[in-house]
Amino acid sequence: MRITVAGAGNVGLVTAVCFAEAGHQVTCLDTQKEKIEMLEKGQSPFFEPGLEPLLEKNLASGKLRFSTNPRQAYRDAEIIFIAVGTPEKKDGSVDLSYIYIASYHIAENIENDVIVCTKSTVPVGTNEIIKQIFQNRKPRHLKVDVVSNPEFLREGSAIMDFYLGDRIVIGADNPEAASIMEQLYLPLKIPIVVTDIKSAEMIKYASNAFLATKISFINEIANLCEKVGANIEEVCYGMGMDKRIGANYLQPGVGYGGSCFPKDTKALVQLAGNVQHPFELLESVIKVNQHQHSLLVRKAKEMFGSLKGKKAAVLGLAFKPETDDVREAVSLTIIKELLEEGSMVTAYDPIAIPNAHKLIGNSIEYTTNIHEALKEADFAVIATEWDQIKHLPLDAYIAYMKEPIIFDGRNCYALKDIQRYPITYVSIGRPTILNAKPAQRL
Ligand code: UDX
Repeated sequence: MRITVAGAGNVGLVTAVCFAEAGHQVTCLDTQKEKIEMLEKGQSPFFEPGLEPLLEKNLASGKLRFSTNPRQAYRDAEIIFIAVGTPEKKDGSVDLSYIYIASYHIAENIENDVIVCTKSTVPVGTNEIIKQIFQNRKPRHLKVDVVSNPEFLREGSAIMDFYLGDRIVIGADNPEAASIMEQLYLPLKIPIVVTDIKSAEMIKYASNAFLATKISFINEIANLCEKVGANIEEVCYGMGMDKRIGANYLQPGVGYGGSCFPKDTKALVQLAGNVQHPFELLESVIKVNQHQHSLLVRKAKEMFGSLKGKKAAVLGLAFKPETDDVREAVSLTIIKELLEEGSMVTAYDPIAIPNAHKLIGNSIEYTTNIHEALKEADFAVIATEWDQIKHLPLDAYIAYMKEPIIFDGRNCYALKDIQRYPITYVSIGRPTILNAKPAQRL
């Protein structure tokens, strides 16, 4: 099929590349010229494992092309995916201006009947407005079917998720359009849910809100474990074995971040408020998450009294491993609070430094060498569970730090391993180990 994808962000670009790989003729459109120039050279503007080789391959075969020109991109498309950004407004609601602009451009430039498929996460009711836009602006003789097709890709495993997702959701009013979309996805052999448009829109929000709820719930249990002397690892193991609960998204830590959970939970609270149905449970989930972001700095303050003049090594800037994305990353809150407390910060990350630098600037030092970050540090804070951090030998903390004191926000190390070293170790929902002995440096 001839497919056009509007938006070359995390969702749009992965969608474009994977449909090209599946044999379709795909055009990916973005308004940012520099981004398109990079992509035309086979370079991805963000890191996603496995994406660049597929990008290069499909560019070379001619199955995938890029454009900044709406006429060229939309003119003869059979299916158009809208995958543009839906950023958060100051009040927590969703800024839909990019969605509407894309819809105007589509309506003005199509020359064939087309299915317009919304992949961006949009509040319930948005596709109704998109339908109105087409009714008002499209050429009279053309038929435009609007379909909701929310995306469940995770950054860092997006390509795998495209091929091995748990389900595909298609929300459509017109059975013919739904059937064409089903045919498109059939080769992936992923279960397909066909439903009405509003339910499809809600499935996306409810799924993300539920996963966020699971994370905040387990973080609260972890905090309780600390108070009563239980171990969250054992608790998660025991809970996760119950198939009704499941072990996924039960990993305690310093809270969720990223471009989706924080934004989508707030948007759902807004949506509920708009229909006079306050979503108190989700409001608490958000509050718990914000509190969790500050947990390690609070613990460090408790231990040291004051953090003024202390040198902190922050390990991990990306909001999760295998991505260079720092949007709503917990590391940002940790760094901000450490600076407010008067600490000096050196941050380590293997790939997210350029993006972090855009937000934090030169108020901290950056390094891609973990040892460098640890050098003469008074304490280390683990914010992201990168493999490079999880597999860092514990000797390194002893060899490089002033005193080996670790605040681990992702429970990267087993307590029994830590116990063999003269290290002080504070983690999430597990007993603190107070073993640091500065005299025993290697
Ligand atoms: C999420 C959804 O999973 C995906 O379906 C949707 O399309 C976009 O939003 P993403 O934000 O890329 O994906 O990453 P995800 O792996 O879900 O992690 C989100 C955040 O939750 C991260 O900060 C991660 O560290 C945190 N998390 C995840 C936990 O704290 N504990 C867990 O058990 C799982």
